[in-house]
Amino acid sequence: AGTPDLTGRHVVVSAGGTREPLDPVRFLGNRSSGKQGYALARTAAARGARVTLLSANAGLPDPAGVDVVHVGTAVQLREAALKAAGDADAVVMAAAVADFRPETYATGKIKKKDGEEPAPIALVRNPDILAEISAGRPRPGQVVVGFAAETDDVLANGRAKLARKGCDLLVVNEVGERKTFGAEENEAVILGSDGTENPVPYGPKEALADRIWDAVVSRLPHQE
Ligand code: C5P
Repeated sequence: AGTPDLTGRHVVVSAGGTREPLDPVRFLGNRSSGKQGYALARTAAARGARVTLLSANAGLPDPAGVDVVHVGTAVQLREAALKAAGDADAVVMAAAVADFRPETYATGKIKKKDGEEPAPIALVRNPDILAEISAGRPRPGQVVVGFAAETDDVLANGRAKLARKGCDLLVVNEVGERKTFGAEENEAVILGSDGTENPVPYGPKEALADRIWDAVVSRLPHQE
């Protein structure tokens, strides 16, 4: 830290978790707090980058000196991500994106009716934003980073996910009841598509963010 090694670079970071509405008052969501993504945005700005932060329901104050785009759903996040990624040197998808969304949205609040069984919720697949950006690479030499929260076989699942998504780096961490989500600290392994495996010990989310930017910087093409 302390080196402005992202000066002249544009980086895009997603943070938080998408909410997929069922009706005006209900949604399917997840426990992502957005803290790791916000730490990535702050540290990138401190290292000199122009930062676009795509924030999904994080409920955190906008970091100073960062362009923040607020989104709700996976579909909205995709639209904002594709737009911001156009001229980005790096895209880091730290947000927890819902894999599925309810097939239908009820414009009025869904009511329970006496004596009736609850209706099942039909789901449809959301677009995989990370895979789409990895495949598209809107800017040559762009570095794309994904996250994976795994409960078991963390490294093997991480390797498989890295290959499947087509990104350059995948940050894997083990999650459980009391781990990672909402916590101030995190531990992870940064996997590279070149076979590298870089463990980052338990510590502040800023420290992990700086190790991720180190890995990104080492893969960026030289600036003219
Ligand atoms: O497949 P899984 O959800 O475990 O992958 C996690 C990674 O993929 C995260 O970086 C997340 O932001 C990204 N993702 C995405 N679009 C989805 C699902 C996940 O970009 N629909």
